Amino acid sequence: MCWIFAYNGDKNSIPLLVDGLKDLEYRGYDSAGLIGIKSDGEVFFKKAVGRVSSLATKVDADTNSKWDYSTGIAHTRWATHGIVNEENTHPHTSANERFYVVHNGIIENFKELKAKLEEKYTFYSQTDTEVIAKLIEDSFEWDLRSTLEEMMKTMVGAYSIAVVDRENPDTIVGIKLGSPMIVGEADDGVYISSDVNALSKVAHSYVTLEDYEMVVVKDKQYKIYSAGEMISKNVSEMDIEYDTGDMGNFSSFTEKEIFEIPEVLGNVFNGRINFEDKSIGNETLSELNEHDIQRIEIIASGSSYYAGLIGSYWFRDLAGIPVNVTISSEFLCDTFLPDDKALYVFLSQSGETADVRESLKIVKAKWCLTFGIVNVVGSTIARLADMGLYSHAWVEVWVASTKNVIAQVGIMLMMSLSMWLARDLQYSKARAIIEELGWLGDKIHEVLISTSHIHEVAKKYTQYSDMFVLGRNIFYPTAGEISLKCKELSYIHTENYSAGELKHGPLALIDPELPCLFVNPAGKHYVKTVSNIEEVRARSWVVLGFISKWDPRKDDLYTDTIELPDTSETMAPFTSLIAGYIFALYLAQELDRDVDKPKNLAKSVTVE
Ligand code: F6R
Repeated sequence: MCWIFAYNGDKNSIPLLVDGLKDLEYRGYDSAGLIGIKSDGEVFFKKAVGRVSSLATKVDADTNSKWDYSTGIAHTRWATHGIVNEENTHPHTSANERFYVVHNGIIENFKELKAKLEEKYTFYSQTDTEVIAKLIEDSFEWDLRSTLEEMMKTMVGAYSIAVVDRENPDTIVGIKLGSPMIVGEADDGVYISSDVNALSKVAHSYVTLEDYEMVVVKDKQYKIYSAGEMISKNVSEMDIEYDTGDMGNFSSFTEKEIFEIPEVLGNVFNGRINFEDKSIGNETLSELNEHDIQRIEIIASGSSYYAGLIGSYWFRDLAGIPVNVTISSEFLCDTFLPDDKALYVFLSQSGETADVRESLKIVKAKWCLTFGIVNVVGSTIARLADMGLYSHAWVEVWVASTKNVIAQVGIMLMMSLSMWLARDLQYSKARAIIEELGWLGDKIHEVLISTSHIHEVAKKYTQYSDMFVLGRNIFYPTAGEISLKCKELSYIHTENYSAGELKHGPLALIDPELPCLFVNPAGKHYVKTVSNIEEVRARSWVVLGFISKWDPRKDDLYTDTIELPDTSETMAPFTSLIAGYIFALYLAQELDRDVDKPKNLAKSVTVE
């Protein structure tokens, strides 16, 4: 999505803005722009289509960039309104070129606002952000603070906005509703960012703005206002380490993140599971067990949604609790029937996904119990949820979510075990699963060392432009997540179906050009899925099996196989997903895709 970065202080803002944008780039990479202002009001204004490196080249080519622009705002864009071009790139300006604006979010009533403003002003872009800039000029009376306060009553939507004024060159005003905005304190000045990670290298402490709050930065100081009144807020020490490091021997950062999975799972379980006495000792989970939970509702988007679906099988099978999983954008469109005996679980890597965030607000407004499984510490969803567990997957930078999905799935297995033990005292069965969890890292290593075989198989499957990805029961959403990763990274069109649904329609599409990837490790439904595979093979069509080493049909049933270590059915979603991620990654690499930044996508979807 779009992200903003701003600075006021002792240093020249221009190189700081470029560096800040580089740290935010994975969140939107259609175009980038910045404006720096000197204390006499002179500006340095640059925009470029494409990556931040294109903007950096333009900035470096202009020697004026070396002057002392003590204030500046910058932006990376993920296009929402208007095509990807320079005109639509932020910062946007008022007609009198006095005010410059960067914006993350969507102004939903921009068309009505624009229609009125068009009577007076000519618009150069198709964006909703230019409307904000023109509206500031139109409604400005004596200061930016009161102007923006009034505008917050007029603008409908979600936004974090930073504005500079050439006539008050050492000032930045920021406002926020929905989209994130963080203020960073540093020895050299004040920074504003959509993302705390981008502040971690420059600021020693930070403050997170809440909805309808405003920050006014002036001469290296800042004040925060709410409803026109100055307020004081908690300042957090910067304890976040954000450094993607180098790629080392990996071919992409995404591959590097996949290889971090065994350690991430260590973070998830250590300190929460006691592998010695095979018990779960976590305060949050113990507190959760004090609630009378009769039902679980899981709400998430994208990969987090698939993780939620996988977890739902364990909540039902182990803990015996009915579960429903809903895509957050659909939850927002549906009638909400609050249930005070339900636990509402929100899954989000970023903790900022707009649909998940807004769903959480709806549930909270009805006083229902909310639980967040979030990776980014201090993010909006983490702050809003009544309870929660961090997924501790470290910073997940690259667009495709991998290690965090595994962490989410691990947390839901742990929650299910804890709820199961609290309700049913099935100690020996639960202990067997906990014992196996202790060995999961080794099983994952087995997958990670078989990458050369997965690579060979992936090469072969690059010849197809479509693929079905199928599974049954818990392996249905496991296949769904693999399917999502294949299409997202390789741009091959993949469809996910339940194995049993194949003959209810989709089978009509299968021919030698459309292979079926079946996720069918050993488990209680193995034989039924084998029957579905037989139906495809009876027509001599192509089947790639993600199967256990043990599989007695491995030599006669499949066109190709990717073998997973022998585990119980409970562990197999982990190993299948990791093998699926590696398969998707190599498909993409063989097709020469930018796996770290797939086209049209962005990390952290902060607009609905
Ligand atoms: C896919 C992917 C997305 C995210 C989705 C939700 O690889 O990364 O589908 O899973 O946008 O994001 P979070 O988990 O941040 O809410």
